[in-house]
Amino acid sequence: LGPDAPVTDLITLTRHTLSEQRRHASASGDLTLLLVSLQLSCKYVSSLVRRAGLANVTGLAGGGPNIQGEKVQRLDVLANEVFMNSLRTSGRAAVLVSEEDENAFFVTAAPEGSPDADSRPGRYVVCFDPLDGSSNIDCGVSIGSIFGIYRLPEGSDGTSLERDVLRPGTELMAAGYALYGSFTGLVLATGDGVNGYTLDPSLGEFILTHPSMRIPSRGNIYSINEGNASKWGPAVTRWVNHCKFPEAPTADAEGKPLAGLDEATLKVTHPLRPAGSLAVRADEHDNHGTRKPRSLRYVGSMVADVHRTFLHGGVFAYPADRSSPNGKLRILYEVLPMAFLCEQAGGRCTTGLKRALAIRPDKLHARTGIFLGSALDVAEVERMYQDEE
Ligand code: AHG
Ligand code: MN
Ligand code: MN
Ligand code: MN
Repeated sequence: LGPDAPVTDLITLTRHTLSEQRRHASASGDLTLLLVSLQLSCKYVSSLVRRAGLANVTGLAGGGPNIQGEKVQRLDVLANEVFMNSLRTSGRAAVLVSEEDENAFFVTAAPEGSPDADSRPGRYVVCFDPLDGSSNIDCGVSIGSIFGIYRLPEGSDGTSLERDVLRPGTELMAAGYALYGSFTGLVLATGDGVNGYTLDPSLGEFILTHPSMRIPSRGNIYSINEGNASKWGPAVTRWVNHCKFPEAPTADAEGKPLAGLDEATLKVTHPLRPAGSLAVRADEHDNHGTRKPRSLRYVGSMVADVHRTFLHGGVFAYPADRSSPNGKLRILYEVLPMAFLCEQAGGRCTTGLKRALAIRPDKLHARTGIFLGSALDVAEVERMYQDEE
């Protein structure tokens, strides 16, 4: 048929996870079944998104703000119901945590006579952001869904928030996200690297298109909401400034401004920072072997900004600042899943001062600042934080 003939031996997400599970003798197939529910949720949300402008699913939902204090979109509500219903009846989930719900949902046996009457709680805790980037829904900009999966600790019956749910990312067994963008993609890590799949809309199947994804160790992009600049601390200000003005003369080791550094520029570019503390070590100038300013890209949907960072490199940041001392992004269903994927793809993820994956949230909707992406670029940010200590 020639080299252009259609591929007939497709590696679907289910085929791929089954074969990965066979390689791990102890695997029961439970994770694959849980992933079937998650895949279905993502496909359903994707289909709602593709019809969004026509099917009366855009706009604000009636009712007040959610537990986050945010306005709730109709698609937030629908996506949450889709994930909840599919996971609740999967027979594999024990506890479900959603951005949209104040409390965790502890799965119980389905009532007699219901279509899932034989479904029982399973052994997995799933934390999810059903629809990420809600402010972008109505204007046709990429959005996504995010999930993290823990196995219940040995001997646990899945009834304790403290023991079963409020756990660091180092205990995650899998994490992933779906991107509803120029195509629908699903990126997944089950502890053995990261794989990217693309939805074939005619088959309704995710097909393996990006095996063993690796984040470039350096990139030329920084991604941050610069509208928050007036609230940033000195390390963030210094980092962003360095991204824009890599050649900007800084200061010598004593903090004395170097020749060429004009005080007026300093005040404009570093409104929060006294001139003396701007020193950037010589090696920090040496990004990519050039001193070209980096490009700014900021979609405002974490999934889209993170996916671009995984593919093209650079740093995605949502740091803590003076008005949000814990940042904006939520630990359990935004930060930890993305930190897990990032590290699995050879990247780095930090709060600025600590490895993000090691954070243990003290409550369900706890937040933290994060920087994630190319290992060397994120290390540069960490160094700037250390210098502030
Ligand atoms: P969500 O839509 O799930 O509430 O998440 C929104 C998050 C995240 O997607 C994005 O990175 C960030 O909010 C953008 O916030 P700003 O509008 O403050 O930049
Ligand atoms: Mn929200
Ligand atoms: Mn989100
Ligand atoms: Mn959301």
